[in-house]
Amino acid sequence: METITVVNPFVVGKYISDEYFCDRVQETEFLKKQIDNGRNVALVSSRRMGKSGLIHHLYAQPSVQEPYYCFYVDVYATSSFPEFIYLFGKAIFEQLKPRKTVWAERFFEIVRSLRVGFKLDTQTGAPILEISIGDIYSPQTTLDEIFEYLEAADRTCVVAFDEFQQITNYPEKNIEALLRTKIQQCKQSQFIFAGSKCHLMSNMFSSPAKPFYQSTIIMGLDPISLFSYLEFATRLFSEHQKRIDKDTIEKVYDSFDGCTWFVQMMLNELFAMTPVNGTCTVDMYPQAFDNVVSRQVMGYMEQLNNLPAKQKQLLLAIAKEGRASSITSAAFVKRHKLPSASSVQAALKPLLQSDIVKNDNGHYRIYDYFFAHWLNNSF
Ligand SMILES: Nc1ncnc2c1ncn2[C@@H]1O[C@H](COP(=O)(O)OP(=O)(O)OP(=O)(O)O)[C@@H](O)[C@H]1O
Ligand SMILES: [Mg+2]
Repeated sequence: METITVVNPFVVGKYISDEYFCDRVQETEFLKKQIDNGRNVALVSSRRMGKSGLIHHLYAQPSVQEPYYCFYVDVYATSSFPEFIYLFGKAIFEQLKPRKTVWAERFFEIVRSLRVGFKLDTQTGAPILEISIGDIYSPQTTLDEIFEYLEAADRTCVVAFDEFQQITNYPEKNIEALLRTKIQQCKQSQFIFAGSKCHLMSNMFSSPAKPFYQSTIIMGLDPISLFSYLEFATRLFSEHQKRIDKDTIEKVYDSFDGCTWFVQMMLNELFAMTPVNGTCTVDMYPQAFDNVVSRQVMGYMEQLNNLPAKQKQLLLAIAKEGRASSITSAAFVKRHKLPSASSVQAALKPLLQSDIVKNDNGHYRIYDYFFAHWLNNSF
């Protein structure tokens, strides 16, 4: 197996290997079991908990790679059905490329409508797919062909659609029903639907009125345990001739309720700040936190500038309180000089929908802890 050495072992934003992936042993096993038993899975959790990472980790397991063809399709950036089909077709083709099987070579034979994009690489002579969204003339036909192709494989195909809730925003009607019908007809292809918009996902998969109702196992994702993070962080520091105090790991973990992205970001920074043969101690935490925030400032400014005035005002009010409750009360409105309870109500909805604000059992907080800190210090 190829070994990849990384400069900073607390990897953020991509999956490298087992080595840099903390725990998720049971979750990986659970997912694998569902796939092995022919069940589709909806993987739902709040943002940045590790859904996409878990899918990549599952796919990296030899016990999954060997018996299955695995495909990953991130539909986050799609806004219409043709775009979905474009990405789906492209993902299948691209991810199959390294496998030189008879089935891989049949791609254009079955997915006839994508033949327009068939080219030969001028250097290697290998087939390549060069299409644009405009080439998807009949999305339904291409969809039918892609499913026909998956079903013609010499092994079971596993397809993960990440940020699947995005399909509910497409202007075309009945896409959920259409996909459900296609998926139901599959005899040997399996699907994982991942999503972070919990209300949209649970509506899709748990509401009797919706096409996907009762068709899939719903799986949540909790934070990785502190115990696992202690072992993971200690090992990675020590493998790089550094040490980290148990207290520091606990402080990081507790500050972010164990949410993976935040923990990884902080450990990445603390690792960078610790010299070789040195020890990372809890007094380094505030500096590490500031360093992480300052790297994100441009993004935060942009995010804030893109918000309408009333949402901005409400966001700042919530940031000031940390965990805000009774936000439509006269007292809250007065305390933060907001226009009215109804304007708070109206501004809250889009802030929740875009995951900027999170409802924690009736308390509202800014979802991104670093963003909250920056807002508080800057205004
Ligand atoms: N088990 C893990 N060990 C180490 N790092 C992880 C683990 N799981 C995820 N990560 C890292 O944490 C970050 C967040 O994970 P990921 O992107 O998988 O979350 P997500 O739930 O898909 O988030 P989103 O809802 O925003 O799509 C990523 O940078 C990823 O590399
Ligand atoms: Mg994700």
